[in-house]
Amino acid sequence: MSSENSLQHLAEQIRSCQKCPLGRLRTHAVPGEGPADAEIMFIGEAPGYHEDRQGRPFVGASGRLLEKLLAEIQLTREDVYITNVVKCRPPSNRDPLPLEIESCLPWLHQQIAFIDPLVIITLGRFSMAQFFPPTARITRVHGQPLIRDDRAVAPMFHPAAALRNPNWMQDMIADFAQIPDLLDRVRAQRATRAQDDDDPEQLSLF
Ligand code: URA
Repeated sequence: MSSENSLQHLAEQIRSCQKCPLGRLRTHAVPGEGPADAEIMFIGEAPGYHEDRQGRPFVGASGRLLEKLLAEIQLTREDVYITNVVKCRPPSNRDPLPLEIESCLPWLHQQIAFIDPLVIITLGRFSMAQFFPPTARITRVHGQPLIRDDRAVAPMFHPAAALRNPNWMQDMIADFAQIPDLLDRVRAQRATRAQDDDDPEQLSLF
């Protein structure tokens, strides 16, 4: 199956998921959207009111900010994959519970495996917590990518947080400005790896 088909099949499974109590409370599950070969993947927290209504990620105020920040680096939301840690809206936009996160995480892991993004941007602390140690604080580590296995994971503020705090907004703009360079670095790393894998002489050195 192509990545495109695998992602679509996964989205259908997510839309009918009842692995946690949020399945009974949602209007629509929100699997995520974007090209199956996206180089950049954004991972937010969980759908809010508008996302639950429309079944699409980041379509409210946070989504409008995300689109503006993308435009600053000459990207549109159609260029990237956008999803969340939790695919169904927690009631009254409360924080997702550990059981909800745990039940939902296999979906995210499969999305990452199918898309194989070069850069993952975590938006907010719930998303950051999936990749960084529990001691990591977003106010300290935002904008500092972790590069591992030919992939960069960069923690950033959640757009809703930036909308509340002008200092964080400035930080978020600066962090977004680093994304193109980060992408270039990972592209170069992957190209070198592919070349080494293809080069029999290189292999014989080991
Ligand atoms: N906030 C999120 O974390 N995700 C969305 O999809 C919308 C708002």
